[in-house]
Amino acid sequence: MMRTRPLKVALLGCGVVGSEVARIMTTHADDLAARIGAPVELAGVAVRRPDKVREGIDPSLVTTDATALVKRGDLDIVVEVIGGIEPARTLITTAFEHGASVVSANKALLAQDGAALHAAAEEHGKDLYYEAAVAGAIPLIRPLRESLAGDKVNRVLGIVNGTTNFILDKMDSTGAGYQEALDEATALGYAEADPTADVEGFDAAAKAAILAGIAFHTRVRLDDVHREGMTEVTAADFASAKEMGCTIKLLAICERAGDGASVTARVYPAMIPLSHPLASVRGAYNAVFVESDASGQLMFYGPGAGGAPTASAVLGDLVAVARNRINGTTGPGESAYAALPVSPMGEVVTRYHISLDVADKPGVLAQVATVFAEHGVSIDTVRQQGKDGEASLVVVTHRASDAALGGTVEALRKLDTVRGVASIMRVEGE
Ligand code: HSE
Repeated sequence: MMRTRPLKVALLGCGVVGSEVARIMTTHADDLAARIGAPVELAGVAVRRPDKVREGIDPSLVTTDATALVKRGDLDIVVEVIGGIEPARTLITTAFEHGASVVSANKALLAQDGAALHAAAEEHGKDLYYEAAVAGAIPLIRPLRESLAGDKVNRVLGIVNGTTNFILDKMDSTGAGYQEALDEATALGYAEADPTADVEGFDAAAKAAILAGIAFHTRVRLDDVHREGMTEVTAADFASAKEMGCTIKLLAICERAGDGASVTARVYPAMIPLSHPLASVRGAYNAVFVESDASGQLMFYGPGAGGAPTASAVLGDLVAVARNRINGTTGPGESAYAALPVSPMGEVVTRYHISLDVADKPGVLAQVATVFAEHGVSIDTVRQQGKDGEASLVVVTHRASDAALGGTVEALRKLDTVRGVASIMRVEGE
């Protein structure tokens, strides 16, 4: 039965995502009301620039005073799409204190302060939903939190940043270098004027922290995520990857480690076999591969950014939270009961592709192999190409710890016959 009192929704931020949320709330109003069991009404929109013309939004709803808006006391749901840590954090906690549930798309805030925000939501008996914080339109939070709640997730391996995937895909398909591919991504609007958050892996690391926390029922914060950017990936790395039947992707990897006694969360560019489903994720698309005990392998794929796709995830949360309000209940909160330790990067075990410039003379290969052996790193394949007394040597290892590999590389650099370590790249997804 339809309730007549509308649910009041405040929108904090009306940029690319916020304006799409407002648009869909208007154009789909009847369907949303039927699905929720009550109409939803846009009760206020907090913006920084009040003079900007916002099509479809009643100017009388627009305010620059976000704090006063969340303190109104008659709001049912606050949608936060401002991003960043402050004022978003204070506005969200103030919204809880004044009786509203919150839908947020704020990955940086959730990755840094998710536990405190969940605690605030619980203290006030409110919902905190954030499907849009990870991989735009792709349903991930709800599948991990609800659909897989009866299973045991062992690994989440994902491409969760579209900008970097666009750049790497361009390098792979055209042979372009990093800067050339970045310039194209910027010209086409895929990369921001300052691409640091994307290319240095900060954006993906925040998403990895959120995914790992939910997947493993453990608190994982941004600081727990090992992060390496992709600015050093070269056309030569792609050529090496191709020779191995691989491509290179910026991966967010969340795994159980040490026989399940701990977890790891990490972001870095890595080689991945062309046969792996993630290798075929092209352009700015995102995809996340989940491995669980009972379900086996699952793949979630779609647009990971953009106004309408991100708004789709926000609206899904809005409907869920609105239904909860009507039923006088709340959805699942934080589940961190497993409280597993997060292993340091040194304990992470994977395979490595190492490219060395060496002198091409008798005994060099034996010397290099000895260094690997001394550090307990087993070699899988070696490929050498010599020219004019110098050679390039590509070593692919079996699985070894990051600490053992680091020690190996440090010792290799000290050999007179090793002119330089051209690149080190991990091999994942096997
Ligand atoms: N900048 C991100 C990306 C989208 O390129 O995927 C927002 O997280």
